[in-house]
Amino acid sequence: MTTDPLVVFTPSGKRGHFPVGTPILTAARQLGVDLDSVCGGRGICSKCQITPSYGEFPKHGVTVSEDALSEWNAVEQRYNDKRGLKPGRRLGCQASVQGDVVIDVPPESQVHRQVVRKAAAARAITMDPATRLYFVVAEEPDMHSPTGDLERLERALREQWNIEAVTADLSLLSKLQPVLRKGKWEVTVAVHKGHKDSVARIVEIWPGLHESGLFGLAIDLGSTTIAAHLTDLETGEVKASSGLMNPQIRFGEDLMSRVSYAMMNPGGDQEMTKAVREAINDLTSSIAEEAGIDATLIVETVFVCNPVMHHLLLGLDPVELGQAPFALATSESMSLPAHEMNLTTMNPRAQVYILPCIAGHVGADCAAVALSEEPGKSEDLVLIVDVGTNAEILLGNTNRVLACSSPTGPAFEGAQISSGQRAAPGAIERIEIDPVTKEPRFRVIGSEKWSNEDGFDQDIATTGITGICGSGIIEAVAEMRIAGLLDESGLIGSAEQTGTARCVPEGRTHAYLIHDASAEGGPRITVTQGDIRAIQLAKSALYAGARLLMDEMEVDRVDRVVLAGAFGAHISTKHAMVLGMIPDAPLNKVSSAGNAAGTGARIALCNIGSRAEIERVVREITKVETAIEPKFQEHFVAANAIPHKTDPFPELAQVVSLPSPSFNTGSGGEEKQGRRRRRRG
Ligand code: FES
Repeated sequence: MTTDPLVVFTPSGKRGHFPVGTPILTAARQLGVDLDSVCGGRGICSKCQITPSYGEFPKHGVTVSEDALSEWNAVEQRYNDKRGLKPGRRLGCQASVQGDVVIDVPPESQVHRQVVRKAAAARAITMDPATRLYFVVAEEPDMHSPTGDLERLERALREQWNIEAVTADLSLLSKLQPVLRKGKWEVTVAVHKGHKDSVARIVEIWPGLHESGLFGLAIDLGSTTIAAHLTDLETGEVKASSGLMNPQIRFGEDLMSRVSYAMMNPGGDQEMTKAVREAINDLTSSIAEEAGIDATLIVETVFVCNPVMHHLLLGLDPVELGQAPFALATSESMSLPAHEMNLTTMNPRAQVYILPCIAGHVGADCAAVALSEEPGKSEDLVLIVDVGTNAEILLGNTNRVLACSSPTGPAFEGAQISSGQRAAPGAIERIEIDPVTKEPRFRVIGSEKWSNEDGFDQDIATTGITGICGSGIIEAVAEMRIAGLLDESGLIGSAEQTGTARCVPEGRTHAYLIHDASAEGGPRITVTQGDIRAIQLAKSALYAGARLLMDEMEVDRVDRVVLAGAFGAHISTKHAMVLGMIPDAPLNKVSSAGNAAGTGARIALCNIGSRAEIERVVREITKVETAIEPKFQEHFVAANAIPHKTDPFPELAQVVSLPSPSFNTGSGGEEKQGRRRRRRG
């Protein structure tokens, strides 16, 4: 039996005997313990910090004496003087085994640390990015062994980090020699290895130990908005989140009008490609500035987007996506250098990964939702609705997963709404209407107070009340229905019919007045009949898509519903149900997941294994095409009523009782308008 000391690592529980004098980092590596190191044990990166524990450990069957580790050495002292080590911490590459010892590896020293998501159904992301930093000491050139600097760097990576084959492009090669000399042959390299690559790629090189971090962007490229999360590729921390409007809106609000623009205008697709790439370049610069980092430290970007955005981002003509059979140029995931897409403000050698598309209308954004919400791992039948200009809908459980996309239009994002606006300070995001007095009270982004509470006016003094955002309009319409200002068909009643002077005439229809600051030169915020129709069209498309999947699954009910989307976290589940956006379900089984597509992009950015996983999952998803399915139209028309013409909503009735006024004047004009089927987009 060995008399070598026993080393026990926590939290992994891995243990083994090692000869006296073995560095803790070496013991950890031999046991496969997750202990980080960028400098390869040279005592300069401090990534290998550990905490030894002393005393009796009956659980592990060891007693750890005070001298179980080698004495604090000069390297640790130097690091402590320069940067400071937390009390009780040692550098794992410097402290060596002298006796039995219990070593705790704190989370920040683990390579594959877990990043816990904020969303309710938390799925931790395990850090395992495609691009990592390696500190290496390369051999100096010498007259007798005439190899190139790159070859000696390659050898160093092979010998010191077991990285076998690497490549470097010309732009990297051009900086290699000065950097190696500046660092006196000690350099840090960022190496990217994709999950399908046999060769790794040197993305960047810095003299000495690079300590300014490494970053990636997770970008959800939507038809209306582009949202980006700047993520630390070592810790998984989101350093900044930022977004802007998709500038392609000027070529058409929805997807189909952008495809038409490409069809009608020679070179139109290239114009749109240029516009979106420029916007991403601007967003990259601004988000880096916001986080206080150099944009060239962004070495990876993951995109999720619908098929039309996907093609336009890649510079592919989207015309085929506008007509059956909706053929994609490729449905596979894409890995390519950012510069090939003219993304020039991030690192010139940054790599891009785009998730696979599911089908011609069901894109990489839907794949990202599947990656984030994992319907295929759910025991109960879950309906996931990612609300955006185009809704991505998934229905499934461990047996089977179905997906479709439904053209809701931009109304849920506050566009095409008379007083609509982006979710920004000053926008009404919550609203309640008293069912007796029919008086509204509301909250605006930027204040925690309701409009009838003390201090509200001071809170909004700088922003003012500027309009209604997506979640606000959903609540407004649902509250109008609950308060009896709106009948089942979606008609707004007159002042006489509803008993409130807030229902004001507007042309041949009526509008509900929420806020009027026109006397002071401010806005007059109303919900018009046109707004109600826009919301009805959007919600009918959403519901019809969900119903179509339920038909395919041969079910009438789902066990739970997850609302996702850029503003999914802000949608009141009760109000979504009153509107009939989603099928009836117990209210406590309806939850919000926030921006699931964006989260899926972050997962793919931080964990390379998830890329292979989603590529496999996507192949197993059954897609349902809404555009050619006659049943979709039928479901769409029936879903026009609020909450629905024929489907019962018994669970909703337990929580809210909806009045049943009828404001139909018999002109029929409104009804025709309501039935008009919106174009896909
Ligand atoms: S491994 Fe870098 S300081 Fe220990």
